[in-house]
Amino acid sequence: MKLYIFLCEKCDSLNVLFPCIGRNEYEFMHKIIQRVDSQIVKSTYKLDIAEYPIGLESRLKDLNTCLGIGRNDITLMIGIYGIGGVGKTTIAKAVFNSIGNQFEARCFLENVREISCQVNGLVKLQERLLGTLLQTFGSFNIGCVGGTNNIKHRLCSKRILLILDDVNESHQLQGLVGDKNMFGPGSRIVITTRDQRLLTSGNQVDSTYEVQGLDDNQAIQLFSWHAFKRDRPVESYVELTKRIIDYAKGLPLVLVVLGSALYDRSIQEWESAFKKYERSPHKDIYEIFKISYDGLDDNEKDIFLDIACFFNGESVEYVMEILDTCHFSASLGIARLKDKSLISFDRYVVMHDLLQKMGKEIVRRESPGKPGERSRLWFHEDVRHVLEENTVRISH
Ligand SMILES: Nc1ncnc2c1ncn2[C@@H]1O[C@H](COP(=O)(O)OP(=O)(O)OP(=O)(O)O)[C@@H](O)[C@H]1O
Ligand SMILES: [Mg+2]
Repeated sequence: MKLYIFLCEKCDSLNVLFPCIGRNEYEFMHKIIQRVDSQIVKSTYKLDIAEYPIGLESRLKDLNTCLGIGRNDITLMIGIYGIGGVGKTTIAKAVFNSIGNQFEARCFLENVREISCQVNGLVKLQERLLGTLLQTFGSFNIGCVGGTNNIKHRLCSKRILLILDDVNESHQLQGLVGDKNMFGPGSRIVITTRDQRLLTSGNQVDSTYEVQGLDDNQAIQLFSWHAFKRDRPVESYVELTKRIIDYAKGLPLVLVVLGSALYDRSIQEWESAFKKYERSPHKDIYEIFKISYDGLDDNEKDIFLDIACFFNGESVEYVMEILDTCHFSASLGIARLKDKSLISFDRYVVMHDLLQKMGKEIVRRESPGKPGERSRLWFHEDVRHVLEENTVRISH
């Protein structure tokens, strides 16, 4: 049998033609090509996940239920959410690696939040997305591929896996996915975000998955791999390791950053580093949490800082009552903080210790040397100093 393989000049895609064959043979050959393609793809598309992956299998198992693998008749959109540094991107990469070969095309679009802030950022992302999904090589220009209708036409026949990582605004979803049904049946679109509301406000997301922190055993393993290059702590560091595990509260980011920072350090160095981190978080951790804070409006920022400085662990009723007298819309602001994974509440308002430390650090940085010029005072020695020296700033 003759078969022609050629490269399409317009879109650089690889095409195969079988002249003079019947439908059955065609389908048979098509299956072979898909199989070969998926084997080649299998070995080439995989992403680096984490240096020492821990606990990913169980998370993947949970997610597979949401992903409805095997249902090729429907297109599903799944949202992964959780606090910064909990491992959303890591789990999304693991999903991509484990099921990517089951799709005709796949694209992992990283850093959506960051890139869409740049000039023409969203267009760059669209071009990257289409270039990858339509398997064109080299640079891809939306204007040169035959217009949006052509793109839609070419996408709607493809079963794709698309991962949009770190989305923080609904216009990004609109610009990159629009209508999820424009992709071929059986497609899966996975979104990662810190903002749960982004997933629930439109009506496109079929199911959501909250990434939880690691349990203590997993946390010890991850920290130990980074701090000691083995899966458990060195004997003389066991007690100090326990303190770090308690401090990190299951957040992989914290375990990785601190483990790497403390690698090959003496016990004295651990002690002094730990004292420092208890006062204010490690700068890498601070910067990552600060992204969430910077995305709040002024009212939400005020509420966040009030909770960090005064109300963590207090009853919801009590916090609402006090905030309502100081802020215009405390209940709305508190709900937004919850959506953004910055607090959780049932009967009590709970903020992760490290977020609380970041909040206090933001206030401390308002005026590092002069507590009287800060917007909030919570430390008894600062309060005494300000009152004794009469250095309080009256804000209007
Ligand atoms: N299960 C895990 N095993 C090992 N390392 C992990 C795991 N989950 C996350 N990490 C590591 O923790 C760090 C933070 O993870 P990741 O970037 O996935 O968090 P994120 O939730 O996407 O954060 P952000 O909200 O800032 O995007 C990374 O260094 C990553 O390699
Ligand atoms: Mg991420």
